[in-house]
Amino acid sequence: MEEIKMYTEKVMDHFQNPRNVGEIADASGVGTVGNAKCGDIMQIFLKIDDDTGVIEDVKFKTFGCGAAVATSSMATELIKGKTVDEALQLTNSAVVEALEGLPPQKIHCSVLAEEAVKAAIDDYHKKKAE
Ligand code: FES
Repeated sequence: MEEIKMYTEKVMDHFQNPRNVGEIADASGVGTVGNAKCGDIMQIFLKIDDDTGVIEDVKFKTFGCGAAVATSSMATELIKGKTVDEALQLTNSAVVEALEGLPPQKIHCSVLAEEAVKAAIDDYHKKKAE
């Protein structure tokens, strides 16, 4: 029987060596999202320069499946150094594309990554308005 290759090398790489793991103590914004079906949770911390709106640092913690780890790792790489407005444009399909694909049953994991980024930016805006 032919072996089914579920994950691309990029996914395996980000799963085994996730980038930007951890938390930021004095984060400008924190986003926590979860998927009720699988029970996975993702948390994104942003350090944002108030003057330029540039995301200077980003860290994540994911309690979830391998694809959730890989997609959050890739999402942090994609938004680091970008402005908040640019980061808001990040879609889950851009994350999947950067990982060179995900199996269909794992697409929801990339949606979680997009939602976590948006939730962290939301939190930043709320904190700024206080
Ligand atoms: Fe739910 Fe991956 S199985 S985030």
